[in-house]
Amino acid sequence: MAGGVSLRKKAAGKRSNHFKPQQQQPTMHTSSNSPFRTRKTLILVSVLSAVAVIVLSWNTWSSFRSDAVVSAQIYSIEVVNEFPHDPAAFTQGLLYGGNDTLLESTGLNGHSSVREVDLQTGKIKILKNMEYEYFGEGLTLLGKRLYQVTWLRNTGFIYDRYNLTKLKSFTHGMKDGWGLATDGKILFGSDGSSSLYHLNPRTMKAMKEHVVKYKGHEVHNLNELEYINNEVWANIWQSDCIARISPVDGSVIGWVLLPELRAELLSAGHKIDVLNGIAWDEDKKRLFVTGKLWPKLYEIKLQPLRKPLQAPVERLCLTPPAHF
Ligand SMILES: *[C@@H]1O[C@H](CO)[C@@H](O)[C@H](O)[C@H]1NC(C)=O
Ligand SMILES: *[C@@H]1O[C@H](CO)[C@@H](O)[C@H](O)[C@H]1NC(C)=O
Repeated sequence: MAGGVSLRKKAAGKRSNHFKPQQQQPTMHTSSNSPFRTRKTLILVSVLSAVAVIVLSWNTWSSFRSDAVVSAQIYSIEVVNEFPHDPAAFTQGLLYGGNDTLLESTGLNGHSSVREVDLQTGKIKILKNMEYEYFGEGLTLLGKRLYQVTWLRNTGFIYDRYNLTKLKSFTHGMKDGWGLATDGKILFGSDGSSSLYHLNPRTMKAMKEHVVKYKGHEVHNLNELEYINNEVWANIWQSDCIARISPVDGSVIGWVLLPELRAELLSAGHKIDVLNGIAWDEDKKRLFVTGKLWPKLYEIKLQPLRKPLQAPVERLCLTPPAHF
């Protein structure tokens, strides 16, 4: 998709922090110091103080609140390891399967598959090609079952985790099939919109749906998902960003910015598509990312930003809603 990002950064609402009651106290221009006037002055001062206390505590409270919203952490990355990745794999779903293997779902009609891949060599250990009509998308592993969704359809498939034999198909409650992840109990799903779904793995119906937001902006194009330490991490389609989302309310609690990976592959002359695919090795705390048609898969670590961003996160990571 061409075209620049047209999102404008919303001007931060200016709060008045200039309340200085001392400067606004009326000056008494009277020589009279009758007890009646003194009492009136005292009442006035008390009322003003009370107002000042209310205004100041309101300001303090609302600045705490806005700090909570603004404090989404922004990370860059460090590459720890590089592994070979099938440059013909249009990666749409990725997860770590234990024992140095990855389970991967690939897209494009006629090229879609579910596969088990050796991490170190990138070699395909088991390959199940999908029928031409299906465009493979997100993949997740719950128990011994792999769940996969497909693009532009409400149909998904369940496979045996060990031999990738297709066990059954299902219909899900999202508008499309883009990403899947699991916390070991329920599934999380994305459909390319700004919605993060909680899916019942028995029925594949949506139990909850949160609109993912960052500083009040909807985060569209939620793509491949991974569940990491009580957060749902999502590739944002057409960006070099991963959003770290609270599954509790859909708020973005952090961003991982990794433009250098795609840039490096492009400058080396590789014909690649976007960043997509996050896998987490819970045992060894290893984090892997790759992309569509990328010849490499990277093990990365997060680190604090080392240089200032070239543009606000809103411009780098929020992409306009796509319509298919
Ligand atoms: C782990 O992978 C190796 C190499 O593919 C294989 O020989 C071994 O049986 C696997 N172990 C388990 C527990 O799956
Ligand atoms: C795949 O594994 C399942 C259970 O683990 C088994 O029932 C099935 O027969 C296996 N299929 C093949 C083709 O080996």
